[in-house]
Amino acid sequence: MFLSERFFREAWPTISQDFESSDDPEAAVRWILANTKLPDGGRVLDAPCGFGRHSVAFARRGYRVTGVDFSETELDRARAAASAAGVAVTTICQDMRDMEFAGEFELAVNLFSSIGYFSDDEDRLLLDRFWRALAPGGTFVLDTRNRDHFVRHVTREEVVAGIRIENTFDPETSRVRGVWHRVDGALIGETEFRLYAAHELRAMLRPERWRRVDLYGGLDGAPFTLDSPRLVLIANK
Ligand SMILES: C[S@@+](CC[C@H](N)C(=O)[O-])C[C@H]1O[C@@H](n2cnc3c(N)ncnc32)[C@H](O)[C@@H]1O
Repeated sequence: MFLSERFFREAWPTISQDFESSDDPEAAVRWILANTKLPDGGRVLDAPCGFGRHSVAFARRGYRVTGVDFSETELDRARAAASAAGVAVTTICQDMRDMEFAGEFELAVNLFSSIGYFSDDEDRLLLDRFWRALAPGGTFVLDTRNRDHFVRHVTREEVVAGIRIENTFDPETSRVRGVWHRVDGALIGETEFRLYAAHELRAMLRPERWRRVDLYGGLDGAPFTLDSPRLVLIANK
């Protein structure tokens, strides 16, 4: 059990589609493809894939997609979205820490703040699993919150998609505790995430084993700065 597990199993599926509706997965996928050399029909790992918004966008473009998530509710939605789009997405219900892929993908993505759920050691092991999953020459794309932006700008209380989140940031651990409420005050659940600064994530990737690692401030190619809300790494194996 990790600290936000209950939130992801019980609360997140009740809000995920509202929460993520402000984001444009098609635009993100277009930018990723423009910045990676994915061969036609290449294999893509989307972990965690949630309700499949990026998986389906990749599959629509002819890529062979595997989506991993531990929530059957989200995977059911991913399968329904794939079938509505007339595309195939392979879904695997699994804790992403247990992924055992080896050299099977040309592209692996971890999108929308899907790192930092575990201890630092377990997050590092998760990054190892993405490296192992890639074929030589493959690309890993990670998109998460920029810890430095959070520290400088995020207030104790944020409202996202009609959900009020009370944040308590611990500067000793860079972990943030969130208490999530609906606007009517009803409690949704509680989270606890590690936020990473760019240099920390880069070091955790073990840059010596990648041919190159580039940083961006978003999945639109914005330059990365202290004030970027997002932190995107593109690593080439
Ligand atoms: C913030 S959502 C992002 C999902 C997707 N990347 C997207 O952008 O739509 C995080 C997802 O992680 C999944 N998740 C959380 N912990 C997990 C774990 N240990 N193993 C697999 N999936 C997990 C949740 O079920 C949820 O679907």
